[in-house]
Amino acid sequence: MSADRMPSSPAPRAVVTGASRGHGLALARFLAGAGYEVVVTARDSAALALARAEIAAVGRVSAVPGDVGDPAHRAALVERVGDRLDLLVHNASELGPSPLPALATADAAAFRAVLETNLVAPLALTQALLPALRRAGGLIAAVSSDAAQGAYPGWGLYGASKAALELLARTLAAEIGDVATVIVDPGDMRTPMHQLAFPGEDIGDRPLPEVTLPFWAWLIGQSRTAVTGGRFEAQADDWTLPVDTVAS
Ligand SMILES: NC(=O)c1ccc[n+]([C@@H]2O[C@H](COP(=O)([O-])OP(=O)(O)OC[C@H]3O[C@@H](n4cnc5c(N)ncnc54)[C@H](OP(=O)(O)O)[C@@H]3O)[C@@H](O)[C@H]2O)c1
Repeated sequence: MSADRMPSSPAPRAVVTGASRGHGLALARFLAGAGYEVVVTARDSAALALARAEIAAVGRVSAVPGDVGDPAHRAALVERVGDRLDLLVHNASELGPSPLPALATADAAAFRAVLETNLVAPLALTQALLPALRRAGGLIAAVSSDAAQGAYPGWGLYGASKAALELLARTLAAEIGDVATVIVDPGDMRTPMHQLAFPGEDIGDRPLPEVTLPFWAWLIGQSRTAVTGGRFEAQADDWTLPVDTVAS
């Protein structure tokens, strides 16, 4: 789809950031196949074009290359989305240095870069797309990690960014009634980021990101009020078990 705006149609509309590979690509392809008009983004325009072609084989997709940390890129996304947005998935993420650094020697500039992509940009993009989300009574999903809670050695920069992202998501859920916000921990997946976290290791025993798709299929079918403020583990056995939910 090459138009600057998604066409006016009754199909639900989704933005998936970081959809050129890994979990974002699997999710965007799934959503397009489920009837969503999907807007995908990533920095590497060649990789994003390949992903766009793959997704276009199953449904409607529009690609906007750029960095979620760049205000001009976010403005281009707002323009492409148009008047309403049903689902915004903050999936794009920065792991930080590899091998993962201990906090005692972690670099401040690297920390700022992680925070910019994983924390500052998702809030700025949420703010920019909020009018369109409100028109649709939409859903925001912040993709987090068990590293947000685990205090795993080496994972401090990334984990701190995800912990703060989770607090932003919970606070949005408490502040905003007409748009739902959830936290999604996808669990370990065999992706380029996971390989970066375990350089030189065989990660072949981790599941492919498609393992999360039954969860996403369940989530998009839920009422917004039933899920807002919740933290979900996409590889859990039962997502309908009581979730950690903030009062709103
Ligand atoms: N893989 C796991 O085991 C695992 C576990 C727990 C949580 N997660 C979370 O799941 C999500 C997906 O992870 P993944 O493993 O699929 O990661 P991945 O393979 O590294 O893919 C990340 C995607 O985000 C894009 N991206 C990165 N920085 C960006 C930026 N500043 N602006 C726009 N796009 C950007 C990348 O493309 P470009 O580099 O071209 O921009 C790529 O499309 C992340 O939020 C991650 O934290 C992953």
